[in-house]
This record gives sequence, structure tokens and C-alpha cells, in this order.
Amino acid sequence: MSDTDTHKIIVAIDGFSSCGKSTFAKRIAARLGYVFIDTGAMYRAVTLYALEHGAIRSGEVDERQVVALLDRIDISFRFNPARGASDIYVNGTPVEERIRTIEVSECVSRVSAIPEVRRKLVAMQQAAGSARGVVMDGRDIGTVVFPDAELKIFMTADPAVRARRRYDELRAKGDDVSLDEIERNVRSRDRADMSRAVSPLRRADDAIELDNSHMSVDEQMEWFMNEYRRATAAR
Ligand code: DC
Repeated sequence: MSDTDTHKIIVAIDGFSSCGKSTFAKRIAARLGYVFIDTGAMYRAVTLYALEHGAIRSGEVDERQVVALLDRIDISFRFNPARGASDIYVNGTPVEERIRTIEVSECVSRVSAIPEVRRKLVAMQQAAGSARGVVMDGRDIGTVVFPDAELKIFMTADPAVRARRRYDELRAKGDDVSLDEIERNVRSRDRADMSRAVSPLRRADDAIELDNSHMSVDEQMEWFMNEYRRATAAR
């Protein structure tokens, strides 16, 4: 039997920012023929909309205004064959590029700590995974969104390694950022994500930890396929 013939499951991938969760999740989804959902992109999309509609000014997030905008934000995904993954759209407009800027990164932790924002996005995520066969990455997938996921992975990596990865990614796109600025952002988002009152980032008790500081993507895939076979054989 091939790996893709087994009963479809939910693969939940949580962990710190810039650990390579999305790259890993995208590869897994392609390998298994599953749908990949980047939940961080959804929090970023709400943040971008709030920035563009006056609910965030000079870095100050006005929670009430963000909540008031929520009903006007329609988030959807469309598969982009060039990327081998889905691009995110807000009200029909593609925003995949614009949600990755440092401006959005600096405000997204505060926006994602708003309970109403989490309620709306978690409901969307649960609907998207209701038929299983999904790989979802985020901060609370194994703890809140799908506590019953069959395979939960908690990713970590050294903060300096993570900052370097994000820096290389942004520089390759032509963004004029400094490594220092990125490392500060990575560390402050770790703190904010772990200490927020609603759905803080934490490893689910039944999640398997993957520290990929010194692992290639191929090595991570090999590790994953062993875990996947174990998880599906045990069922
Ligand atoms: O994975 P990312 O860096 O693109 O996520 C952006 C932010 O969104 C991150 O700082 C925390 C938040 N987030 C969250 O609170 N819950 C999730 N499931 C995914 C992301």
C-alpha cells in the first residue's frame, strides 16, 4: 500500500515563528496529496486589512476597530500552480505578497491575540479540515483547532537560525531589512505568542517535537514520513 492510500488524517503543525513550518507543511501536503492551510496567513490577512482600513495607526492596534471590520473581511484561498500552494485572497484580491512585510509582522501578534479574531478564524479552519486530508500549520492547531488531530508536530529551531532564514527570504525579495530588526521581531513574537491569554502557543501533550535548526528539508521529510507511517499504522 502506498503512503497516500491510507485513511486521510489531520496533520497539525505548530511552533515558533520562522521555523520553516509552511515550507515543511507544503511539502508534506504535496507528498500525501493533502490540502495545505497556512493559518498564519489568515491572521496576517486580517492584520493587513486592519492596517489598510485605519484600525492600526503608527503601530497602535485599536481592538474595537479591528473587531468592527471583521464582518467585512472575506478570506479565501486559490491554488497557485507556480508556487505549488494556495495563495490567500481578501475580498477577492490576492494579498499573498503584501501579508509578508515587516509592517504586518510587527502588528500580527497583537491582532491575533484578539478573541473575536481567533473565534472567526478558528471556525474557518475547522470547517476547512472537517473532511480531514489536511496539513495545517499555526500556533494552536494541535491544542485548539484540532485537538483530535491524528499527528501533531511541534517545531522549534534556534532563534538566531530562524532570524537568518527570514532575513534571507526577505532580502531575496528585495526588502531592505536588517538582521537585527528581524531577530528582535522573531524573539518578541515568540514572547507574545506564548504569553497571550487566548490560545497561547504551547506544545500539545501528544505532539512530537522537531528541532530543525540543523536539518535540511529532505531530512525533515524523511523524519516526517517515518512518523506518518507510525501514526497511520497505529490506527
Ligand atoms: O506563522 P506566521 O509567522 O505567518 O504567523 C503570523 C502570526 O499569526 C504569529 O505571530 C502568530 C499568529 N498566529 C496565531 O496566533 N495562531 C495561528 N494558528 C497562526 C498564527
